[in-house]
Amino acid sequence: MATIEGRGLEDVVAAATRLSDVDGEKGRLVLAGRPVEDLAGRATFEEAVHLLFHGDLPTEDELRSLREALGDAREAAFERIPDLGDALALPDGMDALRASVAHLGESDPIRIIGAVAVFAAAWGHPSGPLRPDPKRSHAADYLRMATGGEPDAARVRALDAYLVTVIDHGMNASTFAARVVASTASDSVSAVVAAIGALKGKLHGGAPGPVLDMLYAVGDPTNAAAYIEGALSRGDRIMGMGHRVYRVRDPRAFVLERAVSELERSTTGRRLALARAVEQEAERQLAARHPDRPLKANVEFYTAILLEAVGLPRTLFTPTFATSRVAGWCAHVEEQRRHGRLIRPKSVFVDVPPPRPPAPVT
Ligand code: COA
Repeated sequence: MATIEGRGLEDVVAAATRLSDVDGEKGRLVLAGRPVEDLAGRATFEEAVHLLFHGDLPTEDELRSLREALGDAREAAFERIPDLGDALALPDGMDALRASVAHLGESDPIRIIGAVAVFAAAWGHPSGPLRPDPKRSHAADYLRMATGGEPDAARVRALDAYLVTVIDHGMNASTFAARVVASTASDSVSAVVAAIGALKGKLHGGAPGPVLDMLYAVGDPTNAAAYIEGALSRGDRIMGMGHRVYRVRDPRAFVLERAVSELERSTTGRRLALARAVEQEAERQLAARHPDRPLKANVEFYTAILLEAVGLPRTLFTPTFATSRVAGWCAHVEEQRRHGRLIRPKSVFVDVPPPRPPAPVT
């Protein structure tokens, strides 16, 4: 049995939620009653936001007014950029996002969701951030603002599939951070700032950049076995493999792989074959080293190639994750406020032996 520190609250139930259901044994993810594979590639980000906040997909009127509200939110956030000081000049995109969101004085979740997209996209634009276009869908406008180019429909569809897939995922570390802050009766922006800090880590949302580095370093499927062997022998973790909850392949890896393969049919991308070869090899070698612990592809593996294929730079991978997950954080904050209680676990005091007295001088 691992120590308390070594367990990382594994299997501890920290909240009741209607937002998502993660079954780690069967590899199932259900978002507000809908399996992720039914939503990704079929629903837009706006529809998934409505689903989270209202428990059902929107009617046409509801969808139209949500699109308008999100468009207004992006415009309002853009007007705030001059007040952000040096926040967007920070060299790391997640630091810049955390600092810029911290300036917000909003409590409306839609306003916060709109702002995260605008601030994430605005970071790192040497020629100045692009003004949002409220007439576009959230995914299309984010992609346009972030890349500076006119995105085609296939790339927007793939990004929408990604944003829908990662919108919520049970009691993951950043959502837990958001709920802890909300449980103290603090404000929504503070909860989101805490969550952004948690998402930044490479064990949570920071993995897709390193996954891409790995794929570039492997270069060709024939190098996969030697690369994985070398990494594991050095004691490195293979990014994009393994999960705290899933004991089978992450269901989000399936839907993102499907989205990448649909995108590759309309573009010249050829990353999928390489990614599949590396995944297969990593899975095989991890199984040999950890026969009792299934370590399979997680969401970040195919996130890396999807986000690269839609044209986003790797430095924007984790901020793009935040652009979607902020909806989950805000929905959890509302849920925590409605039903939750101050989250205040206990610790076990570990006595430290007193320092030895100095030896007597003889
Ligand atoms: N590559 C190599 N070994 C791995 C591994 C990986 N990706 N993931 C887990 N392991 C090994 C651990 O080193 C550990 O070995 P040990 O028992 O010999 O010490 C064993 O598998 C059990 O891992 P554990 O640390 O208990 O897993 P966890 O539940 O704490 O970790 C992750 C889950 C996601 C943090 C972990 O799998 C990981 O670091 N993955 C890579 C980062 C990543 O992709 N993050 C995105 C998650 S969505």
